[in-house]
Amino acid sequence: GCQMNVYDSARMADVLAPLGYEFSDTPDNADMVILNTCHIREKAAEKVYSDLGRLRKFKAQKVDRGETMILAVAGCVAQAEGEEVFARAPYVDMVFGPQTYHRLPEMIGQATRQAKQSGGGVLDIDFPVEAKFDSLPVASATDVCSALLTIQEGCDKFCTFCVVPYTRGAEFSRPVHAVLTEARCLVANGVREITLLGQNVNCYHGEGLSGKEWGLGRLIHALADIDGLARIRYTTSYPADVDDELIAAHRDVPALMPFLHLPVQSGSDRILKAMNRRHSSLDYRNLVERLLVARPDLALSSDLIVGFPDESEEDFKHTLQLVEDIGFVQAFSFKYSPRPGTPAADNSNQIDDDIKVERLKRLQNLLNAQQIAFNKSLVGSIMPVLFDRPGRKEGQLVGRSPYMQSVHVNGDQALLGRIVDVRIKAGFANSLSGECTEIVTPGAVRDGDHLDTKRVCA
Ligand code: 5AD
Ligand code: SF4
Repeated sequence: GCQMNVYDSARMADVLAPLGYEFSDTPDNADMVILNTCHIREKAAEKVYSDLGRLRKFKAQKVDRGETMILAVAGCVAQAEGEEVFARAPYVDMVFGPQTYHRLPEMIGQATRQAKQSGGGVLDIDFPVEAKFDSLPVASATDVCSALLTIQEGCDKFCTFCVVPYTRGAEFSRPVHAVLTEARCLVANGVREITLLGQNVNCYHGEGLSGKEWGLGRLIHALADIDGLARIRYTTSYPADVDDELIAAHRDVPALMPFLHLPVQSGSDRILKAMNRRHSSLDYRNLVERLLVARPDLALSSDLIVGFPDESEEDFKHTLQLVEDIGFVQAFSFKYSPRPGTPAADNSNQIDDDIKVERLKRLQNLLNAQQIAFNKSLVGSIMPVLFDRPGRKEGQLVGRSPYMQSVHVNGDQALLGRIVDVRIKAGFANSLSGECTEIVTPGAVRDGDHLDTKRVCA
């Protein structure tokens, strides 16, 4: 699913740690398996049931040995389908949505009792009055240098194709002090880059330090003041809600990376209107122009849907044109997938799948060509790279450029967690390679670098 699910999974681990649970590499002998699920397109939702079929065998083997395995379905499929999950997969023990995972300890207690007694599953798909974030423990120590931080959740936009407003609920912003506390804790544990998350992250309007609401621009300024935090990103944005303060932050905050994911969905005004997107193609172009004035080295990525009901060849050509004009350097593109309960699913002018397939191919050809051209255009430049993982080959390191490209170099492991200038030697479809402009003595740690032992926040 989305990065929100990645964040939620990590927070579930934080809730479960005091109960003695630890990560397992395999479901083989696990005491509990949680599938954190995505409902955004049919394919993702259906995958849950094939995965459950596979997990059922592991559970049966454990039960045969007289042991138990709790099988849980979390996330947006759980929220949308509720009881239906038990109907299709009666061996599931718990079904809970994205807003109730702080109640996992109670749910596990109940599921364990029920497994011993009557059987039957535990269902918790409320939108509870207590705030989930207030009930979660402090984020755990981390061994990564790039972290996700949810600052906003839910969506009130109701794009006519989208299930999110139904599965994640109404828009909610975490207060500034909670965001800053979590960010400081992450940085104290070695994090150099934070990606602020929200379904609609630039609708952020959290309670500020003196009680008045802050927007995302102001929050980014405050985060940039945290010593040791070198990079800030945010995703996913809603174009109509990008305000002047946020544009100014792109100009004034060097730590805010020059790469923005700004979903446009379509280049046709007729389709954008039918999608209830609240921006026209011209609005989008104008917004990008203002962002580029603020930050001339900004590169854009996007989400695009082809084959929305009623989309003509002409509408689709407007999408291709917009993609070319904006020059997206990366994008996610999807065939429209009708989702139960959303208005567009009831539209009688659905597009045939073979037309969707053909349009998606043409769109992806264009996007891939733009992505490769961008990657190749960087050859010869020097870019700061945050090394976050060892490469597959011996002596290789992989990091992220400011534009989120994976950059491969040969270098010492001492560079992990550090930002180093890299001279780009080659650009490929999905990555870059290069060489570090400084040589690091094995094991050496420089002043100001965050390679020291990890500290847990109180
Ligand atoms: N069909 C296809 N793509 C969808 N998205 C959301 N709902 C649908 C759907 N029903 C895409 C949008 C959104 C991204 C996360 O998923 O492009 O921005
Ligand atoms: Fe879905 Fe639209 Fe909300 Fe994005 S803004 S989560 S696409 S309803």
